[in-house]
Amino acid sequence: MTQPTLVEIRQLGVRFTKRDRHTTVFESLSLDIREGEILCLVGESGSGKSVAAKSIMQLLPQPAAEYTQGQIRFGGRDLLTLSEKEMEAIRGKRIAMIFQDALSALNPVYTIGTQMIDLIRLHAPSRTGRKQALAQAKDLLKQVEIRNVDEVVKQYPFQLSGGMRQRVMIAMALSSRPELLLADEPTTALDVTVQAQILRLILKLKREYGMTVLFITHDLGVVHEVADRVIVMRSGELVEESDKAELFRNPKHPYTRQLLGSMPRIYFEEARP
Ligand SMILES: Nc1ncnc2c1ncn2[C@@H]1O[C@H](COP(=O)(O)OP(=O)(O)OP(=O)(O)O)[C@@H](O)[C@H]1O
Ligand SMILES: [Mg+2]
Repeated sequence: MTQPTLVEIRQLGVRFTKRDRHTTVFESLSLDIREGEILCLVGESGSGKSVAAKSIMQLLPQPAAEYTQGQIRFGGRDLLTLSEKEMEAIRGKRIAMIFQDALSALNPVYTIGTQMIDLIRLHAPSRTGRKQALAQAKDLLKQVEIRNVDEVVKQYPFQLSGGMRQRVMIAMALSSRPELLLADEPTTALDVTVQAQILRLILKLKREYGMTVLFITHDLGVVHEVADRVIVMRSGELVEESDKAELFRNPKHPYTRQLLGSMPRIYFEEARP
């Protein structure tokens, strides 16, 4: 049975304009993100993966970026028609995003505790005191499997390892209990062991929170690890869409086969029924 659709991108057109010169990223992109799945978006550099995620978040630089056509439907509304104020009720709340570079996403001059308290109080429906927010922050840090939370809340981003910073960023993204998490290459900058830990964490959180995840990566090993479904993109076009097992067992598009061709054999053996 197919789950209901959480996000419906229909015939989306996006282009950038710089000094009167247009670069079209999407002519007409359509894709669905289904409730509760981890959908992996793979494709070579420049294929439009980040632009797709930023379009959902309405984070493309204005006025350089322009939506030339189409819709992004979420929660019964087309995000492209919302005002910035309406979008602020969704961005960072119902839809959260994590990036490759956690260091630049965190504020260097505040401790982790201060940043998390501010964020939690921003989302809190009624006035939440700092003490209560700090307790919530520590709770969130424990959920992302940080053990020494009392220490971490007093530290500044530069004092943490890359893996710890990524955990903190995930904890911050979770603070609003988003329905959708957009993860744009969140493990690319990490070494293999830490990468595996973060992937396991995302899988665990997806289960516990019932969250839907759009996971962007160019690494098919990562796809194999986390995906329910996979969309392969090339030059702003969707070239293949399939269940993970099916993709590894029976890739249809030559470009997908080419991507898979560079992978260790072990993935194919496992994918066989
Ligand atoms: N701010 C911008 N101004 C102009 N062009 C942009 C901008 N951001 C992205 N683009 C263009 O949009 C296209 C898609 O870029 P995007 O960042 O989505 O690629 P990607 O698939 O995420 O690649 P990578 O794997 O390297 O992150 C590229 O051709 C890029 O040059
Ligand atoms: Mg990108």
